Amino acid sequence: MNDMPSTGVGVAAADKAAATLDTDVAGIAEAARLLREGKLVALPTETVYGLAADGSNALAVASIYAAKGRPSFNPLISHLPDIAAARRQGMFSAQALALAKAFWPGPLTLVVPISPDCTVCELARAGLATVGLRVPAHAATLAVLEQVARPVAAPSANRSGHISPTSAEHVLADLGGLIEAVLDAGPCPVGVESTIIACLGGAPRLLRPGGVTRAEAEAAIGQRLSEGLTGGIAPLSPGQLDSHYAPQARLRLDADGPRPGEAWLGFGPDPDLSAAQASANLSAGGDLTEAAARLFACLRELDRSGAQRIAVAHVPRQGLGEAIHDRLSRAAAPRP
Ligand code: TXA
Ligand code: MG
Repeated sequence: MNDMPSTGVGVAAADKAAATLDTDVAGIAEAARLLREGKLVALPTETVYGLAADGSNALAVASIYAAKGRPSFNPLISHLPDIAAARRQGMFSAQALALAKAFWPGPLTLVVPISPDCTVCELARAGLATVGLRVPAHAATLAVLEQVARPVAAPSANRSGHISPTSAEHVLADLGGLIEAVLDAGPCPVGVESTIIACLGGAPRLLRPGGVTRAEAEAAIGQRLSEGLTGGIAPLSPGQLDSHYAPQARLRLDADGPRPGEAWLGFGPDPDLSAAQASANLSAGGDLTEAAARLFACLRELDRSGAQRIAVAHVPRQGLGEAIHDRLSRAAAPRP
């Protein structure tokens, strides 16, 4: 892959400069091709540049988190080319549909329950049964999204803690060595991120102020938005935490091997598994990006085995390991 496998934080393009693509027919086709191959491409939107990957491909999504250097798996916004494509991913209430019709394409993200046909992977949703959906108002990016024909996950294209990029130069300065390409459409006209509104039953809730104002959104639905949360990053409510996937089994972290009756969740070479009730491996080769991509699926698989406890191998804390560890520790925390 590249010369930094030991921590697993490298992504495929880490050893070469990102290509700058023009927003012509060839550039759009190349961006779509790279995304379908699971590569990272920065895409312009009317708000900020997004760090995009195929949202249905957990390995591609894991490489977004690796490139951003986020210490935890925040849910990401999935981008679609039109309302019809968005409605295949999420369940729209009457208010959600009114908001979508009023502001899409545009700087609005709707958080809605996933549909039965949702193809956004669990990692992109951070284990939630809800999904953030947005149709951005940018002609070149809409053309890319149509050609990709899959939900495209994209947080703002900056390293965690840095400011959001509104030009291709900003993107390259922050992520140049970590992405395959940037589709360069010049500066973003809005410059602040999309407004995020959750439509999950009851009055829609403003989770993050942004390009669409509260007054504009309220006028579109003919009712007040309910009290929001600052930042939009905190869980929507204490109850919302429950819909984050947490295994039924208890977790025992930093284990050397399985004890009788335990399931084993490995990372790197497996120990003696004769005592294990079931086993899975996040990444036999010790690759943190692969481990992040497999985390939710492995936990579910071991939970289905009926084991009361899952012993988890030591996962290094560097790079993506920090986010993996954050998720595992929360799953391991005592529950009422
Ligand atoms: O303008 C924008 O929205 C840009 C462009 C690239 O589209 N994207 C962006 O993404 O700002 P990001 O990852 O920086 O912000 C995503 C926000 C996070 O605060 C996250 O918590 C929230 O969206 N979010 C996404 N899905 C969610 C969900 N299912 N429930 C609650 N919050 C969600
Ligand atoms: Mg951001």
